[in-house]
Amino acid sequence: MEYLSKSQNDTIKIAKLYAKTLKSGDIVLLKGDLGAGKTVFTKGIVEHFSKGKEDAVSPTFTIVNQYNTDPTLYHFDFYRINSEDELIAIGIEEYLYSDAICIIEWPERAPNILRSVITKTVDITKQGGNRIITVQ
Ligand SMILES: Nc1ncnc2c1ncn2[C@@H]1O[C@H](COP(=O)(O)OP(=O)(O)OP(=O)(O)O)[C@@H](O)[C@H]1O
Ligand SMILES: [Mg+2]
Repeated sequence: MEYLSKSQNDTIKIAKLYAKTLKSGDIVLLKGDLGAGKTVFTKGIVEHFSKGKEDAVSPTFTIVNQYNTDPTLYHFDFYRINSEDELIAIGIEEYLYSDAICIIEWPERAPNILRSVITKTVDITKQGGNRIITVQ
C-alpha cells in the first residue's frame, strides 16, 4: 500500500493508521534516507499505543528508546553502530524475540541479525517536499 504525505502531520496520521495493524512481537523496519521522516513515523506509532501520553524522540545517542505502552515499544536507530557485534552486546536478540513491538531505523546496518527474523517494512521516499510512504 502506498500513501502520499504532504506534511509531517500527514505522516503522523498515516503512522497512526498503520499502528492499528501492528501486534505484539512485530518487528518493523523503517527504511529511507536521512530526514525522510522515519522518526516522525515512529512518533505516530508511539502516539497510537500511548494514546498521546508519550512522545517519540530520536534515539540518536542511545541505540534504543523504550516506551512503556501495551505492548511495550522499542525504537532502535542503527545509524551509528560500527558493527553488528554492538547489537549483540546490548542483547538485541532478547528484544527481537520478545513480546514487544520493535521499530528499527537504518535496518540496513544489521543485515545478518535481521536476516533470521520475520519483519514488516515501511519505506519512506522524499519526493520534492512530499513523502511517498510504502507499507508492506
Ligand atoms: N511529509 C513529511 N513527513 C515527515 N517529515 C517531513 C515531511 N515533510 C517535511 N518533513 C520534515 O522532515 C524531517 C524528518 O525528520 P526525521 O527525523 O523524522 O527523519 P529520519 O528519517 O528519522 O532521519 P534520520 O535518518 O536522520 O534519523 C522533519 O524535520 C520533518 O519536519
Ligand atoms: Mg530518525
